[in-house]
Amino acid sequence: MAKPAAAQMKHDMGGMSGHGNHKMPMTGTNPILSEGRPLKDLPRLPNQSAVPGVFKAKLAAEPGVVRFAEGLDTPALLYNGTNPVIEASEGDKVEISFSNGIPGEPTTIHWHGMPVPADQDGNPSDPVASGGERIYAFDLPEGSAASYWFHPHPHSLTAEQVYRGLAGIFLVKPKDDPIPPEYGDTILMLTDLRIAADGTMPDSTMVDFMNGRVGDHVLVNGQKNPAMVVAFGEKRRLRLFNATNARFLRLKFENASMTVIGTDGGLIEKPAAVDELLLTPAERVELIVFFDRPGAAKLTTLDYERGWMGPDKPNEAGMILLTAHVSDEAAGAMPPLPAKLRSIESLGNPVVTRRFVLTESMGGMDHGGISMQGMDHSNMSMSSDSMGMKFMINGATFNMNRIDEVSKVGQVELWEVVNEADMDHPFHVHGTQFQIVEHEKNGKISTPFYRAWKDTVNIVAGETVRILLRQDLPGPRMYHCHILEHEQLGMMGTVDVQA
Ligand code: C2O
Ligand code: CU
Ligand code: CU
Repeated sequence: MAKPAAAQMKHDMGGMSGHGNHKMPMTGTNPILSEGRPLKDLPRLPNQSAVPGVFKAKLAAEPGVVRFAEGLDTPALLYNGTNPVIEASEGDKVEISFSNGIPGEPTTIHWHGMPVPADQDGNPSDPVASGGERIYAFDLPEGSAASYWFHPHPHSLTAEQVYRGLAGIFLVKPKDDPIPPEYGDTILMLTDLRIAADGTMPDSTMVDFMNGRVGDHVLVNGQKNPAMVVAFGEKRRLRLFNATNARFLRLKFENASMTVIGTDGGLIEKPAAVDELLLTPAERVELIVFFDRPGAAKLTTLDYERGWMGPDKPNEAGMILLTAHVSDEAAGAMPPLPAKLRSIESLGNPVVTRRFVLTESMGGMDHGGISMQGMDHSNMSMSSDSMGMKFMINGATFNMNRIDEVSKVGQVELWEVVNEADMDHPFHVHGTQFQIVEHEKNGKISTPFYRAWKDTVNIVAGETVRILLRQDLPGPRMYHCHILEHEQLGMMGTVDVQA
């Protein structure tokens, strides 16, 4: 695929300014990542405890080196050098001893989507200093089985620490799983890499801060378009995680059939067949993919308009993320997918309604990005608050010392999230899972096809989304746009949940 000249230039120029923490040659082409290698299984974090019902391990955030392209070392930040998957079960007690080995930077681990106490959830107000340690301890309640993930959440540094590599999967397995074990259980962790000719990851630019940083390559388990081999007629359980900073993934499985069985907060009530789906940053989906046609089945991206600002709009369509080679030999008999997976009760009638209005301000620049056209890319590397770009909730940017909302444990609330901005913003709430009631745009209301537990929902530009939610644990919780650059530029608030 040919790369637009403007994008090429931006990436090459990135290293010429900014913090100067890496050097790049002015010339040279972006590295080619090899495709078609067998899909790797992500490593697992071994449980150090012999006590049943206890998961105990160590995690260290530290600099490391990754090989994405032949002969090139890419300096990165990683958990334990490999970003291992944590797999525990409902009812387990979890204890993670964490150490921050990132030179000169605080960090935290945030357990995205998980019902963990507020003081164990890696809030920006609880940083672990460089060289420091802490223990994260929490219990996994009954009914919490789902596909979660974890990532840093330090004040003003989240976006950079995540694109440099810090993110991991946290699977909570149920006591009884209704999905036939014959379908397997495959993690597909989607990340987004921008890599320069010398193998380094360039600093973010102005365009990255505006739109969120979109890379050059969407990777699956760290690989570009890896391959899996399946038998004709086989059904596979695939868990997709959008662990990118800002990539909107509208996905289709060419030559195979997709059925949604789960979302951010675990299984839905009944399997739902879909032709395509949109997975925005931080969202997860569990699929059963039925390889019912011979040949190659490809997980492919489709175009999506998310309201790009300024130059270098990426071409979202036509990326092949994963190729499944369907063998001629038929699969053995596959047990059917149960018609009912679980029940999800409605959260019921809200006693409080809150309204959150999302807006953007581009500071001195023209809103529509016209004045961006002539901008010199070499001056575009920036610290996160320069040029006055702001992303706001109810007119304010994030302030760690301000409580924006006060709530109560156990109280059912209706949150109305109104996107008055020009781009989509995936809205995320910490500490709980919510239910989407409806979407409203231009006076038209639509309700979801199925009831589901979610912790992140895309709010399309101009749209209002109503969600029902209840926090069961006390303490301060963040809510924010999960385009991590927007979170960093202020689109975040705090609700204090009182006991
Ligand atoms: Cu993954 Cu505050 O979020
Ligand atoms: Cu979160
Ligand atoms: Cu946003």
